[in-house]
Amino acid sequence: MSESNFTEMLSRLSEKSRVDFYNPYTKFAWPDEVSEGDWWMNPQYISVHNTGIIEEEKTLKALARYETLNLFSLHVHGIRELMIEVAQRIHTPDFADYNEYLHHFVGEENAHMWFFAEFCYRYIGRIYPEPASIPGRAGYGDVWDDLVIFARILIFEEIFDYFNSRMGKDSTIPEIVQQIHAAHHHDESRHVAFGKQLLQRLHERACDTSPQRKEEIERYVKEYMTYSIRSLYNPQAFRDAQVDKPLEVRRAAMTHPARREFHSKVMARVNKFFVSTGIFATAWEA
Ligand SMILES: [Fe+2]
Ligand SMILES: [Fe+2]
Repeated sequence: MSESNFTEMLSRLSEKSRVDFYNPYTKFAWPDEVSEGDWWMNPQYISVHNTGIIEEEKTLKALARYETLNLFSLHVHGIRELMIEVAQRIHTPDFADYNEYLHHFVGEENAHMWFFAEFCYRYIGRIYPEPASIPGRAGYGDVWDDLVIFARILIFEEIFDYFNSRMGKDSTIPEIVQQIHAAHHHDESRHVAFGKQLLQRLHERACDTSPQRKEEIERYVKEYMTYSIRSLYNPQAFRDAQVDKPLEVRRAAMTHPARREFHSKVMARVNKFFVSTGIFATAWEA
């Protein structure tokens, strides 16, 4: 995309954000409770789906509930990081071209963080803490750090959009859950479009400055993708759902061939993007 097309895209996205602007605090009609008898997540998105490891409906329903808590908690933690990193860059010289859109971006993420957390506290009374295993970032130098940060944001947004776009249309789950997925999907389509263009620019700049770091960065981003997939299998969700031998079940599910296939599907779009832009020399493997 040429410089002028990108500028045009930024103003189009900003305009769309202005038109679509909503008050998150009044947008949803929060029911008094969400029934534990309902499937909070369509069974096909539960982490043991297609593995035959758990068959009892009561346990699966509990897992659907706690994995919804996990998904929404991961949104909260992902958004915190994203807001910190974007806040550090907005109105600095390297990001001057993006100031206007970044304001919408941060504003929308602040709304998202609120409604995901609100759901968790209202209906379960807590959120899950951030997984401790998140891969630490060495300082790669400013230009590569920018790329790594926005790559992480894109991965996070693309994974969750896989779930949001599907469950946002799913009338078998409770209405409030469906509405949250749908609202998030609606805003995220703009963030993903922006993130992809920005990443290509950051990548070109980083390759011009210090091309020797390219492989190291590819390794790191792939490690982050693997971490992100693992975070969908929260040991605490298995414990809370009263699964027998939760850690063994978690490990068996995570490494099951049917699940590896699912991991590839969830990552397909972002993986293809990294390869086609040259950020990856080879695709990430599940
Ligand atoms: Fe978001
Ligand atoms: Fe986003």
